[in-house]
Amino acid sequence: MQDNVHVIRSGVDERRRRPYLENVWAARRLDPARGSLLAQRMAADGLDTGFGDVDEVSWRSFVRHTAAVAGIGAGDSVFDVGCGAGAYLYELSAMGCTVGGLDASEALLGYARTALPGGRWSHSDASELDVDERWDVVASCGVFLYFPSLDYARGGLARMARKARRSLMVLEVPELAKREATEAMRRRLRGEEAYAAKYDGLSHLYFEKAWFEATLCAAGFSRIRIADRAIDGYANSATRFDVFAWPDARPPGPPR
Ligand SMILES: C[S@@+](CC[C@H](N)C(=O)[O-])C[C@H]1O[C@@H](n2cnc3c(N)ncnc32)[C@H](O)[C@@H]1O
Repeated sequence: MQDNVHVIRSGVDERRRRPYLENVWAARRLDPARGSLLAQRMAADGLDTGFGDVDEVSWRSFVRHTAAVAGIGAGDSVFDVGCGAGAYLYELSAMGCTVGGLDASEALLGYARTALPGGRWSHSDASELDVDERWDVVASCGVFLYFPSLDYARGGLARMARKARRSLMVLEVPELAKREATEAMRRRLRGEEAYAAKYDGLSHLYFEKAWFEATLCAAGFSRIRIADRAIDGYANSATRFDVFAWPDARPPGPPR
């Protein structure tokens, strides 16, 4: 297991070491020229960054497919950790789910609130996820790659497991084994110079599938499904995986 894929110094407040949150997500704004409510939110949530051209049909189909795997149906409650402007929850709300989420960006959370006024929203950090109020399904789509370290991610996943009544899913996770190929592909698509200028100091966190299996088992979720399905039209997605997990009937064992 490589805990050093993202450099961390112990004892440093991780909240002060999150260039993506401060330089990218906090600054993102809605562009009304993008079209529909959903299209505007997809762009605000980062599907507009030059690594593909995801249309609404492909996005809705991705959301519906992942919801079906997680067993989500009308009337279920789904909480998205790092919900951004609400692009992932939008289709679930249309399906008749109760939706809610937290996000560290106040601006993005405001766009989620406007699009989904019946939702429950919290302006907070993933490490502060409220575990006392449980939801049927707890999701996190396209967020773990921005976490500052595997230790932080482990804590976040454990909190998600405590909050989830029926299942949890972590979607769009960059795979550690594909890191070099992913970064080469990203540089090629954006052009070397433009990529270096835009992403200087901004590195993604990569994960092993086995890390999810071990961390989820320790949290009492040993029924796990990991899938490689990509979002049509989104190049980044081709080297990422989706994790679905369901709790054991038995209480969790000791950490492994
Ligand atoms: C790619 S967007 C995904 C938005 C949404 N889940 C979706 O799929 O439409 C990533 C979001 O994660 C949020 N985020 C990243 N790290 C976070 C953290 N540690 N705590 C809370 N939010 C975080 C960002 O502010 C941003 O809104």
